[in-house]
Amino acid sequence: MPDSYCHTVVVISGSGSNLQALIDASVASNFKISRVVSNNPDAFGLERAARDNIPTSMVNHRDYENREEFDLALQKAIDESQPDLVVLAGFMRILGQQFVKAYAGRIINIHPSLLPKYPGINTHQRALDAKDKEHGVSVHFVTEELDGGPVIAQDRVPVLKEDTAESLAERVLEKEHLLYPKVVSWFAAGRLGLAGNQAFLDGEPLPPGGIQVHP
Ligand code: GAR
Repeated sequence: MPDSYCHTVVVISGSGSNLQALIDASVASNFKISRVVSNNPDAFGLERAARDNIPTSMVNHRDYENREEFDLALQKAIDESQPDLVVLAGFMRILGQQFVKAYAGRIINIHPSLLPKYPGINTHQRALDAKDKEHGVSVHFVTEELDGGPVIAQDRVPVLKEDTAESLAERVLEKEHLLYPKVVSWFAAGRLGLAGNQAFLDGEPLPPGGIQVHP
């Protein structure tokens, strides 16, 4: 029987709540999670994977002398499953050029801000400090520029007067859990593409902020 699922490797560093959303969605979707790879032995996401009998690999960055060696080990772990798609879900390491090139057009990331605003860390506090009226999440193709690859889709939340970085993160995370499985299923259906630095959905070039899923 032909296997038409999009085989996906999810790479994590921590809690793995986005991984959980992907696992839950995959039950009735066009993608399957073949492996979960973590750079952090204490990542709770590893337990989430084990609960669902998904193979896991640990590639602890502390065991490697430099980024190149770590990246190569990570690549080896990912390639064990020969995935169609690599999904970074709360992965908190910076990846080198060679690594990113190896998966060009088939590696995506979720980032908790409305890119190009706030690449890097502490995005929720930065949105509060800037007194932004809205904040949100972006899913983007991974390129050599940190959090700088073409955006595929975004969803947003209002910033409330009483918000703290924690309350804002919580509301953004709810949006993440809806957005990521949706984008992965677009990829799995062959609807998404990348040419150079331009993302496409159904053959149409996406605008700089990608698809806005919020009404
Ligand atoms: C998520 O908010 C994700 O967008 C963010 O880390 C959190 C991981 O949560 N990722 C980044 O900041 C990547 N630069 P999770 O482990 O519960 O999915």
